Amino acid sequence: MPVTTTEGLHVAIIMDGNGRWAVARGLPRIAGHKRGADVVHDIVAGAPAAGVSALTIFAFSTENWRRPKKEVDYILHLFVKTVEVWMPELVAQHVRVRIIGDRMGLSARVQGAISAIESRTAQECGLHLNVALNYGGRAEILFAAQSFAADCVAGRTQSAALDEQAFQRYLWLGDEKAPDIVVRTGAEQRISNFLLWELAYAELFFVDTLWPDFTVATLSGIVDEYRTRRRRFGGL
Ligand code: FPP
Repeated sequence: MPVTTTEGLHVAIIMDGNGRWAVARGLPRIAGHKRGADVVHDIVAGAPAAGVSALTIFAFSTENWRRPKKEVDYILHLFVKTVEVWMPELVAQHVRVRIIGDRMGLSARVQGAISAIESRTAQECGLHLNVALNYGGRAEILFAAQSFAADCVAGRTQSAALDEQAFQRYLWLGDEKAPDIVVRTGAEQRISNFLLWELAYAELFFVDTLWPDFTVATLSGIVDEYRTRRRRFGGL
């Protein structure tokens, strides 16, 4: 029987440090991304046992287009290949995959991989895996505002009906509960335009570990520390 993991934590991850991991080993930067994808595989498999029911990972930002074309092409190719190879395993693990970001700015090949994985896993009831691809937090809020305005103009809703909950449904993460935890690996302490609306009350974890060295044990350690923190949401 599939395990329905609806009560766990939502963990968002900024996977940083792939390039440094590779360069430190005398390898091309893309070797770090390849290893980083293998780590995603391990974390997805281990997340439910660590108490996580939703995982949102930052795979490619709207700013990442500024990288050399070869590296950009490799990351997007890696996404397509990974989706192809892991699809049966993700289904067997009952993982529901959604992609968040501006998919219209991606190639037909990448859009095809997105449609395939989303439709194949749409009915799964295990871990929610949200992959941010061509994602920017400000772009997401702008897109939501435009969609809401379009609904107003079309008479489907009106401005007085908009509250935080209603606005959230226009965001790419939709009804997913807000992340409890955001982790950034790679010794940097920035949010980098990730989930600007959704991270309002998330607990922040900045770890020195480079993403290719991140393990399920690292994730479990973060969850353990999270459980010692008191979340007050502005109260006392
Ligand atoms: C940041 O490290 C990492 C990225 C921009 C790419 C992340 C992509 C993956 C882990 C693989 C693809 C994902 C899936 C879902 C299969 P960096 O290159 O900025 O590292 P640096 O700071 O050391 O240069």
